[in-house]
Amino acid sequence: MPEPSRRRRRKTPAAYHTPSDQQSDPKPKSRLARKLAKLVPPRGSGPAATGREPDGALYSHDEQKAMEFADAPDVARIEAQPFLKWAGGKSQLLVQYDEFFPNQMDRYFEPFLGGGAVFFHLKRRFPRMVARLRDNNSELINAYIAVRDHPHELMHRLDEHLAAFNADRKRYYYLVRSQHHLPEKEVVERAARMIFLNKTCFNGLYRVNTQGEFNVPIGSHKNPALYDRDNLLAAQWALRDAHLAAQDFRDTLKETRKGDFAYIDPPYHPLSPTASFTSYTKEAFGVKDQQALAELVASAAKRGVRVMLSNSDTQFIRELYSRERIIVQTVKARRAISCDGAKRGKVDEVVILAGMD
Ligand SMILES: C[S@@+](CC[C@H](N)C(=O)[O-])C[C@H]1O[C@@H](n2cnc3c(N)ncnc32)[C@H](O)[C@@H]1O
Repeated sequence: MPEPSRRRRRKTPAAYHTPSDQQSDPKPKSRLARKLAKLVPPRGSGPAATGREPDGALYSHDEQKAMEFADAPDVARIEAQPFLKWAGGKSQLLVQYDEFFPNQMDRYFEPFLGGGAVFFHLKRRFPRMVARLRDNNSELINAYIAVRDHPHELMHRLDEHLAAFNADRKRYYYLVRSQHHLPEKEVVERAARMIFLNKTCFNGLYRVNTQGEFNVPIGSHKNPALYDRDNLLAAQWALRDAHLAAQDFRDTLKETRKGDFAYIDPPYHPLSPTASFTSYTKEAFGVKDQQALAELVASAAKRGVRVMLSNSDTQFIRELYSRERIIVQTVKARRAISCDGAKRGKVDEVVILAGMD
């Protein structure tokens, strides 16, 4: 009888799980793991063992990626998704953004971090880039610090929140919401509160009153999940060497220098006077901020910083960035198109590229 083909044998689930099958195939199971294993040279041999490729790019230099992931936990192979629901999230735009990102990255800056979709995407692509992640929302930055430094404690606290929430939803939500001024050093407690409120409030909004107190009502989720374990650990891995600080974008842009790459995603300039959503923090982001940002972007590009910025496609923004050596591109984004957020449609957004030539 002819030997059954390898392919047919692999398809039989029972055969795949027999101990003999496991013993006879010492190679890593996933295709990616096998590819990585082949790419990693023995320690101490060859150029890859002594340093990085001159331009550090990873899509074109799989060897570096292989080195980076060789001793990493399994979650390092996952591209982490934002662990918070954040207005203006960029996950849906990454495919369109890919063609604009540089193919080499060393120091990375993100002054308006929000949900961090772009950072997680780029960190997976350039594992050795060193990220400086900033946002002026200190509760948001604290949540990232907790994920980076105390992921297990944080997950435990979130499990406790979920159990208490499920016992008496409305009472528990408003009880947690009322704990506005937890001590600064309670990093895990504050982060657990932030994530709990984010996942159980109305529409994942983050809005505060003039005292900076979170004031979004309870949402109507039937079965809210506060976190996904693998994703949170993948986020922790991505953040392991990130610098995190709560600060205004003006200070962040001052930190940049020649060769850095900055992805800038400010609160968008409103498409119409009534369409504005700028209350991420107690200070709204107005025309003066957009103008100050455009000045800083132009001067950073002059210093040799590579900048990519997202904003709404409005005449104001186009005029603000119609400068020498600044290119304006357009992408299509799915966004809420009515004030109740229920209707969604595709709208144009701009991507501004400065210092990228
Ligand atoms: C559009 S969101 C960023 C979205 C994010 N990139 C994502 O993918 O989810 C804008 C962020 O800017 C922050 N922000 C608002 N004003 C700021 C300021 N003056 N300096 C720094 N961050 C600011 C807000 O807290 C908010 O997280």
